Order: sequence, then C-alpha cells, then structure tokens
Amino acid sequence: MGYILQALLLAASATRVLGSCSYGTFLQPRAEDGAVPISTFGYFGAKGPLNWAALEVPANSACATGTRQSPINMVAGVFNLVAATDLVIEVPNFPEGTEFENLGSTVEVIAKGGKLAFAGKEFELEQFHFHLPSEHLDNGTSQAMEMHMVWQSATKEIAVIGVYIEIAKEGAAAAPAAVAAPAAAAPAREVVAGAPGAEVVPPGVVVAVGEGPARRRRFQQRRQAAPARGPTTLLETIFSVADQIKVPGTKTKTPPLVLTEVVDILKSGAFQGYSGSLTTPPCSEGVNWNVATAKLSILPATFERVRNIIGFNSRIPQNTPGLPNIVQVGGAAAMAALVATK
Ligand SMILES: *[C@@H]1O[C@H](CO)[C@@H](O)[C@H](O)[C@H]1NC(C)=O
Repeated sequence: MGYILQALLLAASATRVLGSCSYGTFLQPRAEDGAVPISTFGYFGAKGPLNWAALEVPANSACATGTRQSPINMVAGVFNLVAATDLVIEVPNFPEGTEFENLGSTVEVIAKGGKLAFAGKEFELEQFHFHLPSEHLDNGTSQAMEMHMVWQSATKEIAVIGVYIEIAKEGAAAAPAAVAAPAAAAPAREVVAGAPGAEVVPPGVVVAVGEGPARRRRFQQRRQAAPARGPTTLLETIFSVADQIKVPGTKTKTPPLVLTEVVDILKSGAFQGYSGSLTTPPCSEGVNWNVATAKLSILPATFERVRNIIGFNSRIPQNTPGLPNIVQVGGAAAMAALVATK
C-alpha cells in the first residue's frame, strides 16, 4: 500500500509541473557520435506503461496524470473525420536509402523533410516507426501493426499520422521489389506543370495533394488502374533489412525508399483527427493525431520476422479524451481493494 500511495502522491505533486511548456523535449535527441540510443522504458513489468510515470519524475508525469492520452479506441465521437483534401502531405523520397534503427522500444526509419499542413499549421517529417500490435483500436479492433509518421513544427509542436498495417490476404500479389530502385533514382514529381495549383517544389519532394482538375484525373486514373491492394512495397523494402538490426542499439541503411505509394494510399481514405499525446514517455500532450482510415499491408512472413524483432510495443488503450487517466483510475481501484481487504 505504501508504494501505491507514494506513487499517487508523486503523480499528484507532479501535475503542477505540466503545462503548455511541455513541448519541445520529447523527440529523442540524436546522439553526437551517431550511436543509437536504447530506450529506458519498456512494455511490460516495472518498465511497462502502468509504471512509466515513476521511471522519470516528474518528466513522465503526464503518463499517469494526463487526461488526453494516446492511444485510444477510435470510435465515433472521439475524433473529427478530416477529408484527405484538407491535408497537404509532401514527403521526401530516399533514393540512397536512409537510416533504420532498433531503439529497443521500436524500429525507426529516420526520414527528415517534406511538409504536413492542416488547420493553418505546418510540420516537417522527422521519422516513422512501428508498433506491434496497433496502438489505436479501429472501432474496437486491434490491427496487426501501426506505423507512426512523426512531424514537428518550427515551434516544436508535434503531429503524428497513424497508419494501420494489416496482414496481406493469402494469394495477394507480392510487391515487385524492383519497382523501388528505378523509381527512386529520379525524384518523383506529382505536380502537373501549368495545371492550376502547380507549384515549384524542391527535387525529391513529392506533392501529393492538389486541387487541379488535371491532377484529380490523374489520381482517379491511377486508383482505377491499381490492382487489388497487395503488400505495401515501402514496408516490404524497409523490412527486407530488418534482420540486420535484431539487436537493440544497432542500425543499418534501407534500400532506396519511395514514400509516394504510401501517400497515395493515405489520400484514398480520410483521417480521424483528435488531440492526444505521445504514446511513449514522457507522454506529452498537445499532439495533433491524424489516424488514417486507409490501411497498409504486409506479407504474413514479413510480419512474423518483424514480430520476432519488435516482440510487443503497444501502450494499453487510454481513457476517452477528457476522462481521468487510466493509471489513476486503476491506482484508486487498487487502493480501494487494499482498504477493503484490511
Ligand atoms: C463500430 O462497431 C459497432 C459495433 O461494435 C458498429 O455498430 C458500428 O457500425 C461500427 N462503426 C463503424 C464505422 O464501422
């Protein structure tokens, strides 16, 4: 009982420290020497989500006191449905490949550049990483995995695009691996010269949203031409080298990466927007979440390989936004049970 009380008191006293100033500290700093930092938190036992607040006091207090924590069950009423056309998503391609790291808590692709814009805010892509199983629940149902694309604004505000990954159906055509290299060799451009809304973009940046009728037609044609969705080439390409970073703290380089494919998939659906938190310590709030309704897919064998590396890295679903933190709810229940059995 002493421990629980202590934890609750610590959590309560830490609440004051939280505020709008909690931005800016939470993207893992890059080590000077290029070493991959291994996360100090985990997903079970005393390092797990129920105890994250105690791992670093008061820095992690939002994990136990925040009332707008992520992930959540994405059911009608907790999110705003945002049309894909309301977001500008520009992503860099990586014709030379990019760094792929095992942080112990996840595997992460360093992917800097591009632009995400919505509701008058603008962000730049920093990295994307993977959770297994999914952290958000799609109307009550967990998915095989979830990809988080993490973006940061000039004022250190964070936006995350969450994308569910499902296991590709049996018999789905394997992704043609050869597509990645040649396509990546030349910077992809989606802007139709002279079309309304055409703009100058830096090489290697793909503009995936536009209002021009010519571009809309191109998108429609591409979608009609697309075969039944098989495994996502980007995922198969990245995970083709996953075995090289089995050990936490190691890194490797991906083959050439083309992100255009994923943006096209995202744009074929909509986004479920809500204000939440980082799903890892320090669980800072004010994170602009956009969970995509369109899903990526992965081959069963690839999923098995990645599962054997990641293991399990999904924070338990949090309370409905605005309701008390689920750790406090559980702590109070534990106290009441202890008192009742005295
Ligand atoms: C969500 O699930 C409920 C049943 O649990 C169902 O009635 C509802 O139609 C589902 N909503 C969507 C959007 O699929």
